[in-house]
Amino acid sequence: MVVQLEGISLIREGKWILQDINWQINKGENWVLFGLNGSGKTAILNLLNAYYFPTKGKITVLGLEFGRTYLGEKLRKQIGFVSSSLQEKFYPSDNSFEVVLSGAYASIGLYDTPTDEMRQKAIHLLEDLGCVSYANRNYHTLSQGEKQRVLIARALMADPSLLILDEPTNGLDFIAREQMLDSIETITNTEGAPTIIYVTHHVEEILPSFTKTLLLKNGQVFAEGNTKEMISNDQLSDYFNLPVRVIWENGRPLLSKIQTKNTVKIGQK
Ligand SMILES: Nc1ncnc2c1ncn2[C@@H]1O[C@H](COP(=O)(O)OP(=O)(O)OP(=O)(O)O)[C@@H](O)[C@H]1O
Ligand SMILES: [Mg+2]
Repeated sequence: MVVQLEGISLIREGKWILQDINWQINKGENWVLFGLNGSGKTAILNLLNAYYFPTKGKITVLGLEFGRTYLGEKLRKQIGFVSSSLQEKFYPSDNSFEVVLSGAYASIGLYDTPTDEMRQKAIHLLEDLGCVSYANRNYHTLSQGEKQRVLIARALMADPSLLILDEPTNGLDFIAREQMLDSIETITNTEGAPTIIYVTHHVEEILPSFTKTLLLKNGQVFAEGNTKEMISNDQLSDYFNLPVRVIWENGRPLLSKIQTKNTVKIGQK
């Protein structure tokens, strides 16, 4: 078992952000955490990373039960985290290579002298993710897609048991998005790959290796289970409260809205 949330609720500033979340992730499973804007996805990730503490319920991540001891650093070294919110945190002088190396320490910036082994590993990861040509460039000067690739390399630096990707294709064009998804699919097929949680509000990004999905709505679990059952016409039409159609192509879903007859045309009363 990699993650277990039991009856998790979270209140912030007097508002229920999450309510009674139950979620179990087993080793070898890759999950999609799907939800609309504001549904509570990032709040769940902040709980998993021990940045937030639940108002109610029990959390166990990688065998560590929250609340027993201070887990922050110990836990974060085993979790690779990729989120565009991390991008602003790096120092203006950091180059891509240094950003990747800092992943070995789960730190922002480098405070220790990395070993030769770490340097070699960082170079390999930069190669695997196609970032070599900008390894020495200042991180802040990279394009959005380049930054996200560097962040994935950074997240893999500490051989995490759990890799969390929070909307990793944010701001990427179609080609860059597909390249990023190819890289993620490659990671899932690598021996000893981490368990991955892929957070998104775009159905089209769900890769075949993500066989489990949790649908989050208004801070509650709407449904969870096999991706094929969650990402279906009936389930998603209920979820969106809008008739939608899902078409599967090459193991990936495509979503469209079903036009209803009483749609008012522009210019008509
Ligand atoms: N620290 C906080 N204090 C008050 N409200 C918060 C706090 N953190 C999150 N929220 C609120 O909780 C809700 C869930 O936020 P969250 O960031 O988890 O959504 P999300 O599913 O990640 O959305 P998005 O797809 O837009 O990233 C939002 O209404 C947000 O404004
Ligand atoms: Mg979010």
